[in-house]
Amino acid sequence: MIKIMKNAEEVGKEGARILAKQIVEKNSSVIALPTGATPIEMYKKFVSFAKTGILNFESVHFFNLDEYVGLSPRDTLSYAYYMNENLFSKIPPVTHDIPKTDASNPFEEAKRYEEKIEKAGGFDICFLGIGIDGHIGFNEPKSEFSSVTRVVQLHPSTVERNSKQAGRKVPEKAITVGIKTIMKSRRVILMATGKEKAEILKKALFGSISEEIPASVLQLHPNLTVIVDEEAATYIQRQVVP
Ligand code: GLP
Repeated sequence: MIKIMKNAEEVGKEGARILAKQIVEKNSSVIALPTGATPIEMYKKFVSFAKTGILNFESVHFFNLDEYVGLSPRDTLSYAYYMNENLFSKIPPVTHDIPKTDASNPFEEAKRYEEKIEKAGGFDICFLGIGIDGHIGFNEPKSEFSSVTRVVQLHPSTVERNSKQAGRKVPEKAITVGIKTIMKSRRVILMATGKEKAEILKKALFGSISEEIPASVLQLHPNLTVIVDEEAATYIQRQVVP
């Protein structure tokens, strides 16, 4: 299903509603969370829902999708820092995992992370953003659809874009949850906002399914909801994704 909202704020609100409903429906939910600019509005709205006291966080288990390799978790570039700033410092204590950016052996850390997701029962719901090259998490073009959590080399264009966003150079390596792991989620929510995502969204949702555009694999997901603003929806129709 594709939901076209008026603007980025409405996309965030809709994402937050879905996230909150998931927790109300199943308070032992295992939930995968994204970073980047897109979900910031979702976290803002979700924090306001949490403040009402309606959500029970006791048995919820959050996992982040990805993290840079080689930073301190206190580094403002790290996704651990981002998550704390935007969400976890503002809601009641909750179980949360994120790949350890400062792990002495990132390869072992990736393996451990995949095992932890599996042990938790896999994701009930996975929230995703999309990179302008079609990446999901940090699964860059040419990532295998059969991939699980692993260490990846980021594409120079991703490093450049993320460095520009962050105001200083980001690491060139990351740990990301794999495409197979994402596809095993029982529900997937893909969010995108702004004109710069319009072209890649059209390709990902209606073009050929190919490892060149990692997000295109989502066309095969049995329970996908896409939430976009009008700008990102420039080239897509109001229609149900098969
Ligand atoms: C980043 C993150 C992704 C995110 C994507 C889009 O590199 N690793 O998880 O979804 O790129 O980011 P943004 O929302 O800032 O456009």
